Amino acid sequence: MKFSVKAIQQPKQQKSCLILGIYENGELTQTAKEIDKISHTYITKLIKQGAFDGKLGSSLPLYHLAHTPFEVILLVGLGKADKLTAANFRKAVIASVKAANAAKHPSAICYLTEANVKDQSLSWKVKQIVEASSDALYRFDLFKSQKEPVIKLNELIIHNPDPKQQKACELALKQGEAISDGVVLTKNLANLPSNVCTPTFIAEQAKDLAKSHSSLSIKVLEEKDMQKLGMGALLGVSQGSAEDAKLIALEYKGAAKNQAPVAFIGKGVTFDTGGNSLKPADSMVGMKYDMCGAATVLGVMKAAAELKLPINIVGIIPAVENMPGGTAYKPEDILTSMSGQTIEVISTDAEGRLILADALTYCERYKPDVVIDIATLTGAVVIALGFYATGLLSNDDGLANDLLQAGQKSFDRAWQLPLWDEYQEQIKSPFADMANTGGRSAGTITAACFLSRFAKKFRWAHLDVAGTAAMMMGTQDRMATGRPVPMLMQYLIDRCL
Ligand code: BES
Ligand code: MN
Ligand code: ZN
Repeated sequence: MKFSVKAIQQPKQQKSCLILGIYENGELTQTAKEIDKISHTYITKLIKQGAFDGKLGSSLPLYHLAHTPFEVILLVGLGKADKLTAANFRKAVIASVKAANAAKHPSAICYLTEANVKDQSLSWKVKQIVEASSDALYRFDLFKSQKEPVIKLNELIIHNPDPKQQKACELALKQGEAISDGVVLTKNLANLPSNVCTPTFIAEQAKDLAKSHSSLSIKVLEEKDMQKLGMGALLGVSQGSAEDAKLIALEYKGAAKNQAPVAFIGKGVTFDTGGNSLKPADSMVGMKYDMCGAATVLGVMKAAAELKLPINIVGIIPAVENMPGGTAYKPEDILTSMSGQTIEVISTDAEGRLILADALTYCERYKPDVVIDIATLTGAVVIALGFYATGLLSNDDGLANDLLQAGQKSFDRAWQLPLWDEYQEQIKSPFADMANTGGRSAGTITAACFLSRFAKKFRWAHLDVAGTAAMMMGTQDRMATGRPVPMLMQYLIDRCL
């Protein structure tokens, strides 16, 4: 889809489809009022007769409205004016883009920027329109013989009601486009099945990405390299799989060499059977998404490179497959991590923290300013926070607050959980420096406690995205969301200010 933002004085383009917002009390937004006048108050009459009620997300296409030159005018319900929050604005945008596409028009002009959204600026609205439209039209039909209907809508012109803010709107548009590109990459990779998306495949994708941007460089460590580094935790997880493990290290250079980078580490378990602590069959469905952290890192690197952000970034992806079997690691095995700390395996299903441990230690060589890991790490975070908030834990409150704020701004939100020392007690082992599980209570926190022992040398935050990176409700409704790419991009953008 092609996006642009312009101050449109009088819409003249006959071929276009106009998207106009209407509130639930019948109040019209600015351009809707103008069109209403030209059409001899047709829209007001419609509303009075109850043909359109302005309920949030409702829409009504008017074809060839008399006295106007337009092919389609799409009325979109904004709900109650005082309830037009960020969430509701996104819903209205998504509904409008789906309806405009259903109206089979190649091009639309979106006037939803005229609506007042609580606490949000014009450039915020522009950025959200781009991101939400891209979300609305996303599909993944690579493996269907019957492809989904082609998307008719291929151009969206966003109206800028305040010409003085044109520059800011254009920047917001550019950011929205780059973030959407990153999100699409993340979704596409995540949605692939694990018989295609193996650790080797992710490494190839990362190489392709690095090839397409001169600001990106890449290094892929093979198992023998990892052996030399003593990555016993990562290799322990991988040893039952026929797929080779990879450790992918991407570097983005957007600033002076000596500027300390932001490091992202993404969990890349291409399939999580649970290993010898095998998952029940029903819980295994959805485990192709256990590499969403890795996909997020690639999405962020792509978006950051597209925006040419003036910072340095490192992206580390430990990629493995967690399988059971005769060569696989077992409960009560003791692994020696790259840090030298030993780990008693209680559950082979707590594999994410093991591969992240070695990736965190590997990360030290980049002398990062901050390290943020992204992982579908615990089922417990889904119990605690459900599908809307990402779990956030950190050893630095400043970093945690920056991420929380970036989440609010981008509407890709996180919620902080405590990382108090008391919880460390739960991962004691009688035989090794620590155990890889901490019992049933506070599962998300004890997982983060485990990681914190490998993150002592830097400011670090952990994002548990098990509930937010993909919708995994049942077998019918599974789909990657591309989260938390928008949050992390907002964090990076704000760092550049
Ligand atoms: N990949 C899972 C976490 C997960 C669960 C992601 C549900 C998405 C949806 C992780 O490797 C795992 O199995 N965690 C265990 C940890 C436990 C053994 C301490 C869990 O949450 O049950
Ligand atoms: Mn697991
Ligand atoms: Zn896992």
